[in-house]
Amino acid sequence: MPSTSMRAITYDRYGPPEVLRETAVPAPVPGPGEVLVRVRALSVNGGELAMRSGKLFPFSGKRFPKRIGVDLVGEVVEPGTSRFTVGDLVWGGGRRMGTAAEYYAIAADRLDRVHSGLDPAQAASLLAGITAITALRDKARLKPGERLLIRGATGGVGFVATQLGKAMGAHVTGLASAKNLELARELGADVALDYREPGHLGKFDVILDTVGKDLREFRRMLTPRGRMVAIAFDLDHPVRTLGYVAAHSLRATRWVRGFSGNPKADLLADLSRWVDAGLVRPLVDTVFPLGAIADAHRALEEGGVRGKVVVEVS
Ligand SMILES: NC(=O)c1ccc[n+]([C@@H]2O[C@H](COP(=O)([O-])OP(=O)(O)OC[C@H]3O[C@@H](n4cnc5c(N)ncnc54)[C@H](OP(=O)(O)O)[C@@H]3O)[C@@H](O)[C@H]2O)c1
Repeated sequence: MPSTSMRAITYDRYGPPEVLRETAVPAPVPGPGEVLVRVRALSVNGGELAMRSGKLFPFSGKRFPKRIGVDLVGEVVEPGTSRFTVGDLVWGGGRRMGTAAEYYAIAADRLDRVHSGLDPAQAASLLAGITAITALRDKARLKPGERLLIRGATGGVGFVATQLGKAMGAHVTGLASAKNLELARELGADVALDYREPGHLGKFDVILDTVGKDLREFRRMLTPRGRMVAIAFDLDHPVRTLGYVAAHSLRATRWVRGFSGNPKADLLADLSRWVDAGLVRPLVDTVFPLGAIADAHRALEEGGVRGKVVVEVS
């Protein structure tokens, strides 16, 4: 049972990783339908770096202090009326930022039990798989034999998407940095190309974009029945990205759609099934303790990360 205060990561202004600091904040009190979780691990997501830097302030506003961390793996402390019991190892993602903390109260339907023998860091590395499943299966409706292009094939979302695309029977082309091309192939890419010098890429039935820039150029690579799922903002022009995606989202063909990730128990269970079947595996690049979360952000910002940077809460 937590005391009335706990350790959490907060920031009082937008800026570099150094703005993140460990502070004492009130421990959460779970509301109706919520579960109190003692956080063991969380992953660092590209979107959080953008949020912390202030590049997304048109969406994130100017109210401080802010909390950070969107997903979690942890043990159930207070299950409330949910289907969980005390001590269950669960994973999921909240509606509000703030999983970089000792405890987090979260709606029970945004959690599922972790199985497949994953440890907390491995499980945390896989949570962006929810985004990959939503993008490829639910939005793009990727079919066997289709040509899939993944921009960012070895990053946090991309390393799961590459495995998933292969498992779904697509012909996968992965764009990654030069040092990670071998990894992209290991993950299942049939073709892996350096995104700085990709050469002629050809046409694709589905493009998963985790970069946000040059959407117009990439859309031209879609086949007549092609679909592009764009999950990232061009951080120099976030509102423009939103406008471009919205303007092309309702087209019947060669559409471009985005979405905002929404971890739910059924999606988490689907992810577990892919893992159990041996079709998707975790990939932890580096683990940082909670107090060194600024280093974790710095590591992701420097680029070249293989899979996920994970933060562990002891
Ligand atoms: N809408 C949603 O629900 C949702 C959910 C999750 C994430 N996202 C967004 O998706 C984006 C990616 O998140 P993430 O956590 O996967 O980030 P990440 O781990 O930093 O991965 C990004 C990857 O893109 C690669 N990359 C950089 N520039 C590229 C380029 N020009 N062409 C191809 N690849 C390039 C990077 O490679 P190197 O580092 O090796 O250069 C890196 O592997 C973020 O903007 C995030 O906000 C959206």
